[in-house]
Amino acid sequence: MKAAVIERQGGVENIVYREWPDPEIGPDDVLVRVRACALNHLDIFVRRGMPGFPVPMPFISGGDIAGEIAAVGARVATFQPGDRVSLNPQTDEGMIGEELLGGLAELVRVPAKNVIAIPPELDFARAAATPIAYGTALRMLITRGRLQASESVLVLGASGGVGLACIQIAKMVHAKAIAVAGSAEKCARLLELGADEAVDMSSSDFSREAWRLSGKRGVDICVNFTGGDTYVPSLRTLRPGGRLVTCGATAGFDPKTDLRFIWVRELEILGSNSYTQTDVEAALAHVAAGRLDPFIGATFPLGELAAAETLMERRDFVGKIVLVP
Ligand SMILES: NC(=O)c1ccc[n+]([C@@H]2O[C@H](COP(=O)([O-])OP(=O)(O)OC[C@H]3O[C@@H](n4cnc5c(N)ncnc54)[C@H](OP(=O)(O)O)[C@@H]3O)[C@@H](O)[C@H]2O)c1
Repeated sequence: MKAAVIERQGGVENIVYREWPDPEIGPDDVLVRVRACALNHLDIFVRRGMPGFPVPMPFISGGDIAGEIAAVGARVATFQPGDRVSLNPQTDEGMIGEELLGGLAELVRVPAKNVIAIPPELDFARAAATPIAYGTALRMLITRGRLQASESVLVLGASGGVGLACIQIAKMVHAKAIAVAGSAEKCARLLELGADEAVDMSSSDFSREAWRLSGKRGVDICVNFTGGDTYVPSLRTLRPGGRLVTCGATAGFDPKTDLRFIWVRELEILGSNSYTQTDVEAALAHVAAGRLDPFIGATFPLGELAAAETLMERRDFVGKIVLVP
């Protein structure tokens, strides 16, 4: 098969589109012919390398996958060749695209228990763009954040995959969604995509704007997966008793903090990691029913993975970036 292979950790020049042996499947696995694979920031971290998370090289990343079953293992009775599927990449053996070979290839091996049928109304691109971003956002906002109708949510990095998913989930439950993004163009697009308000953090202080937009009360929830210099201003956006939820640290995992905000306002700092298979199934069902709608900001052929990852690293996109083998 053809695959976009990371030969060694580092820059995008280490990605080579080349031949790779077809995956072998065990009795409880299926072989999926990939029709679309959506990028996540994790793919950048896997290629660049993360302290404490060794990845064996050469490697194929990509955990957000949709395609057709090409073959089934001897003990698999739930799926058959030709079925249209997506999947929960968190398997009992590890994460597909981080610990197990991923879907930035023509074929991928998947344990059958992680496979999820996709409804006919869902195209492969949107089915691939859903599991990680929307599964993560559902767990972060609903399970961990306990978001209620009529509450207000401020989302940093709202233009990216998880961020836009948070905006849409907030609207789905009738909360107020305030997007924070890095340019006026992205803010305009986020308003078109459903945000109630959008703050351009390249030209304004987003914590002051959050204060103003919440009638000097503070927001109920702040979603912050960027960390770095955005962390303390994010604490400042919250009302007394407000919740800060985080699932990552794109701009730095060891930010300065300010404990005064945490004790004086009795803030809750809530971590959220990953998602369950139920979260992914729920996310796909919401998308199929039209309650959520992943926005595909750019599509590339699989052979142009380096260009797609460069676009993500430059933050020059909105929504999800999809690769098509
Ligand atoms: N724990 C989990 O299970 C889990 C699951 C999924 C994702 N995550 C984490 O969630 C974060 C977002 O993931 P994603 O796939 O949605 O990423 P993404 O699509 O690349 O979006 C990230 C957004 O963050 C903003 N940003 C702010 N500062 C940034 C910086 N220094 N570098 C890059 N982007 C920056 C950018 O928007 P602006 O340019 O508009 O500011 C960008 O669009 C990542 O840290 C990822 O690792 C964690």
